[in-house]
Amino acid sequence: MSLSSRCRTWVAWAMLGFCSLSALAQDRLPATAWKASASVERGRALLSNRQDSGCVLCHVVPGLVGGGDIGPSLVGLAERADAEQIRQRIADPRLLNPDTVMPAYFSTQGLQRVVTAYVGQTVLSGQALEDIVAYLLRDQSPTGPLGSHRP
Ligand code: HEC
Repeated sequence: MSLSSRCRTWVAWAMLGFCSLSALAQDRLPATAWKASASVERGRALLSNRQDSGCVLCHVVPGLVGGGDIGPSLVGLAERADAEQIRQRIADPRLLNPDTVMPAYFSTQGLQRVVTAYVGQTVLSGQALEDIVAYLLRDQSPTGPLGSHRP
């Protein structure tokens, strides 16, 4: 292998490494300032609201009745995703799947058909986002505070 082709191979590996690192970064959204005041009970109310958040229209949500099946069930979510991954999926699922039907709840980028009064605003407030994450990560053990609600 000549020096220049070896060099090209290194450059290709370096680029590959960079791309997979940035893909990883898009997978996670660090906690916002509202995490400290997050409320599991408010999160529960937000998740079950069919008009404003609409989460239960598309998801089966642990502890809530009558979830939809357009999106994956959120039962057992805490076992397959951590807080930063869950936060990112709610804030802007397009970063993981540009064709997703799930709305971007905490982004003002590239949203279509926004009613004028709401331009520049996110669908959920930062506090609401953290409330929902807190509910989805709550203690689901049978002895936990909401364990008896588990379906
Ligand atoms: C219009 C339907 C729809 C609505 C409304 C919706 N989602 Fe989703 N959601 C999806 C779909 C579909 C996916 C699968 C991801 C994809 O499309 O790539 C998903 C994925 C997710 C995931 C990742 C699940 C996993 O197993 O990886 C979470 C967490 C989530 N949604 C939470 C929410 C929350 C919280 C709300 C309400 C604030 C919500 N979703 C509203 C359709 C929806």
